Amino acid sequence: MKIDILTLFPTMLEEVFSYSIIGRAIKDKLVELNYINIRDFSEDKHKRVDDYPFGGGPGMVMKPEPIYKAIESVRKTNSRVIYLTPKGRVYNQSLAKELSKEQHLILLCGHYEGIDNRIVENYIDDEISIGDYVLTGGEISAMVVVDSVVRLIPGVLSSEESFKEESHYNGLLEYPQYTRPRVFRGYEVPDVLLSGNHKKIEEWRLYQSLKLTYMRRPDLIDKLELNEKQKKVLNE
Ligand code: ADE
Repeated sequence: MKIDILTLFPTMLEEVFSYSIIGRAIKDKLVELNYINIRDFSEDKHKRVDDYPFGGGPGMVMKPEPIYKAIESVRKTNSRVIYLTPKGRVYNQSLAKELSKEQHLILLCGHYEGIDNRIVENYIDDEISIGDYVLTGGEISAMVVVDSVVRLIPGVLSSEESFKEESHYNGLLEYPQYTRPRVFRGYEVPDVLLSGNHKKIEEWRLYQSLKLTYMRRPDLIDKLELNEKQKKVLNE
């Protein structure tokens, strides 16, 4: 997969993605990340990329021309162009899964009071928000999308790092995890995890997952399609 990120602050993202699992995925050529500075496409002699809003009002708006040129410099027939904005569809794991199957993502990071709407209407495939709050720009949102998408690309996570058991993978929150020591400051690890009985451990984990999701995120339970085993555990 190739991801082009259009931003006013390329170094901010470059640094973040040089570490850990994403850094390794880049080295292993499982993903190619490119950073395109929108300012490079400004025709203004002062390299300005924003201007006052027509109709008045506070703040500045990003001009259409530099963004258009930045998009066109990387767009191909199989590209999916995404604008990170608090007005977008709210991001979740199932959208991450969908995006992880794309060949080419172009992520556009906005700033100021947003971007000229003619870009949004004519050159953007999806508008995505990472949550109901407002950030100062789209870079942190792009980081969230890239990190959550790249780790789902086959081969990026090793089998030990697998996402198959984690929260949101199957629509549930993950069961609690413990490691050594068995007793930490008087607090013990649940007995069942030390029993060696794999069937019992699996049932306990499923029960904990269902309980946690039911208590904390009943909205997720409503969306869940429970299989027979899950139904049985929930009814116990
Ligand atoms: N830019 C500013 N706030 C944002 C949000 N909540 N999601 C995506 N991009 C943003």
